[in-house]
Amino acid sequence: MAIPETLPGPAPAERMSRVKESPSSRVADRVRDFQAAGRKVLPLTIGEPDFDTPDHVKEAAVAAIRAGETKYTSANGTPALRRAVTARLLRKTGQSYGHDEICVGGGAKQLIFLAFMATLDEGDEVVVPAPYWVSYPDMVTVNGGRPVIIGTTAAEGYKITPERLRAAITDRTKWVVLNTPNNPTGAVYSEAELRGLTDVVRAHPHVSILCDEIYDEINYGAQPVPSAVTVAPDLRERVFLVNGVSKAYAMTGWRIGYGAGARWLCGAIGTLQSQSSSCPSSVSQAAAVAALDGGREFIDRTVGVYTARRDLLVSGLAAIDGLRPTTPEGGFYVWVDASALLGSVTPSGKEVTSDADLAEHFLDTSGVVVITGDSYGCPGHFRASFALSSETIREAVAGLARAVESLRR
Ligand SMILES: Cc1ncc(COP(=O)(O)O)c(C=O)c1O
Repeated sequence: MAIPETLPGPAPAERMSRVKESPSSRVADRVRDFQAAGRKVLPLTIGEPDFDTPDHVKEAAVAAIRAGETKYTSANGTPALRRAVTARLLRKTGQSYGHDEICVGGGAKQLIFLAFMATLDEGDEVVVPAPYWVSYPDMVTVNGGRPVIIGTTAAEGYKITPERLRAAITDRTKWVVLNTPNNPTGAVYSEAELRGLTDVVRAHPHVSILCDEIYDEINYGAQPVPSAVTVAPDLRERVFLVNGVSKAYAMTGWRIGYGAGARWLCGAIGTLQSQSSSCPSSVSQAAAVAALDGGREFIDRTVGVYTARRDLLVSGLAAIDGLRPTTPEGGFYVWVDASALLGSVTPSGKEVTSDADLAEHFLDTSGVVVITGDSYGCPGHFRASFALSSETIREAVAGLARAVESLRR
């Protein structure tokens, strides 16, 4: 955050200079500004399902309100929600977590932030593979840590290898962040790949894995997305699994995430919650129980719709000379290599020298908004969401084709 020299009111803490607003929130504000000015935009920036929360979940929330479940709950979540989380984790990982090895918070985002707050001392390192979810580096730095970014390539499927991980680990490494399926690339680590990485972590007892699995239900593979604890159950206490109901059940606004891992860490996160938010929303927790216990009908139906949209967007982008999309294995984003367009010139004579120039050109020419690759630590790319209607995707692809064609290369 850029801090002016003099400000009215209390002086900001030094740590505020280490954190910036999330690029996705900034872009969302920009889209709203454009729309308010009466301009048509095609926002391929959307980071949440465009489906409505399932009815049975809403009804559970209304029933909870009527039943008076409107008071503070235990800092780490109601017993009912922790039971539902435990049952879900048993189904997914085969691991049976105790209620004190679970924590519930105001979204996966808050739990990741609190996990770093609870564990990082000044100068501790966190290995973050790039492209990364925009929030990890800032969450690390604001909590005193140092993100150690490891780049990955298209040829590696945008996944880190055991060799690269080994080379990045130092005496100060506390965490390795694994996000599978990945935002923004849609890459999913296979069991064998996870085994290779957990073998490296096993050999370094001071290192733990923060496994962000928030997109695991939005999975286009034939098998469930594997988890680090499934392949390395002996490392269970050194893996902090993070997940939530936001993406799988179209519940982003309900703000419920959950974590599973070492008893002390879940306890520490509970302590931090007890001194900050007190607890997650009681009503949202009741809704999350209904979501987790409510069967797979909603997930199966929405993943079917996402699959058709994914294919539409990937094939449309692949047909544009200069863009190279990666077909995602999970999540609802397509990661696009646009490096061939850097150095081109717009019809008004402006050279495209950065991701921001390219995004600006897309917006000016056809109202298409994308999130730039440099936001994810990987310039020369952009992320395009397909949590949008097929009609909007078709219009956006046509707009991008027009914008790319108009560039002089
Ligand atoms: C990789 C990743 N992790 C975590 C989150 C946060 O999810 P929640 O809504 O549960 O805070 C997001 C949301 O965009 C995400 O993309």
